[in-house]
Amino acid sequence: MSRLAPETAAPIARAVESALTGDPVAGVGRALELLEAAGWLDDEALFAAPSERAYTRKLIWLDPRERFVVVGMTWSPGQSTPLHDHAGFWVADIVTSGTMFETLYRVTERAAGGRVRFERELHRIAKAKDIGGVRPPLEHHEFGNAGEGVARTVHVYGGNMVRANAYERGADGLWSALDTALTYDD
Ligand SMILES: [Fe+2]
Repeated sequence: MSRLAPETAAPIARAVESALTGDPVAGVGRALELLEAAGWLDDEALFAAPSERAYTRKLIWLDPRERFVVVGMTWSPGQSTPLHDHAGFWVADIVTSGTMFETLYRVTERAAGGRVRFERELHRIAKAKDIGGVRPPLEHHEFGNAGEGVARTVHVYGGNMVRANAYERGADGLWSALDTALTYDD
């Protein structure tokens, strides 16, 4: 996959930066729509190659003040995240190609040992050009490729999110948090 040139990433970063005022999820979502419509998110260099192992994450831009990070993701058919949170950061995202699903969960019980119970809040299909986002505390979701081809998405997080929790379901229906390091692919 080709190197990400600064002239490719910088206009994206500027558009996101100018949308941080007010409600960042709505503002950055709108900025992603405009970037997509203008063709700025078409560049293959924004994404890593698909992998058999898992969906891939490419760092597009880390704001020097760590107010946001922009990540391009590539999803082979059948690939998805575990149920996860976003370390308290907001997220705005757009599907640039393919078809994704998102299932959002609400925490309904906090039990001993940090375990939680979830209730499904909504399930949606997102096609190319569709935007989405999460706002803590309603920040737990699963996200994955719902189509038959490779899908690509661009995500903006409201900070330098290097760790988050993935959740594992126990036999009693309570979920345990697993602290997970988030890495980038080339
Ligand atoms: Fe997520």
